[in-house]
Amino acid sequence: MKIGVLGTGQVGQVLGASLVGLGYEVMIGSRDPNSQKVKDWVAHAAGGSSAGTFEEAAAFGQIIILATQWAGTANAIELAGAANFAGKIVIDVTNPLKDGPNGPELAIGFSDSGGETVQRLLPAAKVVKAWNHVPAALMVSPHLLGETADMFICGNDAAAKQKVTIILKAFGCPVIDLGGIEQARLTEALTGLWIRYMVISGNWQHAFKLIRKD
Ligand SMILES: NC(=O)c1ccc[n+]([C@@H]2O[C@H](COP(=O)([O-])OP(=O)(O)OC[C@H]3O[C@@H](n4cnc5c(N)ncnc54)[C@H](OP(=O)(O)O)[C@@H]3O)[C@@H](O)[C@H]2O)c1
Repeated sequence: MKIGVLGTGQVGQVLGASLVGLGYEVMIGSRDPNSQKVKDWVAHAAGGSSAGTFEEAAAFGQIIILATQWAGTANAIELAGAANFAGKIVIDVTNPLKDGPNGPELAIGFSDSGGETVQRLLPAAKVVKAWNHVPAALMVSPHLLGETADMFICGNDAAAKQKVTIILKAFGCPVIDLGGIEQARLTEALTGLWIRYMVISGNWQHAFKLIRKD
């Protein structure tokens, strides 16, 4: 299975390398695929990894992971070419953040979300919001803090969510499906809570667990 990862930040690098570790072929996409950062990632991720432009990575992936800075996400999608997403699963890891007086804060919420925005930008794709509310390291090692972090996902296509769940479970993530893509308003709000706790605690390694009977 080929996965295109759009984004060369912490998330793109961690998810990309870890997916190579699971046996996937991964092409990471960047505006500058020849940068030293990208070359270093390919050397680190090793067998099964490659790099290209956003367009090349989107065309390569049978599944596409969107891991771009929110302010550049629409541009990254435009550079990648909407046609390269058509009919594919797009795992949206982004958070619609802007700079606030006390650090990053949500730019939208309540009546819209980043997940819905991405689905509107890519109407022919099956967008699944996942992984956005945990730090990159926990996306692939949910047990890192002693207890296992829950992963909330949402999206409109049930089969797409099942395929994404298989990937998440391969990393040991317990998955809670919240429903349609509009539920990204909640999973992105969790990021707001995650950031607020980081601001007041000075610690950025924390995650969420739903205490429940089932
Ligand atoms: N860091 C975390 O632990 C974490 C956890 C959960 C969710 N997230 C979310 O995941 C996303 C990625 O986060 P990150 O920390 O890995 O990296 P980031 O610094 O937020 O984003 C890096 C990527 O965004 C692209 N980008 C920036 N401006 C762009 C523009 N104008 N046009 C096109 N592309 C642009 C960069 O492209 P180039 O490669 O071309 O420079 C780079 O690949 C964010 O939305 C973030 O909120 C992050």
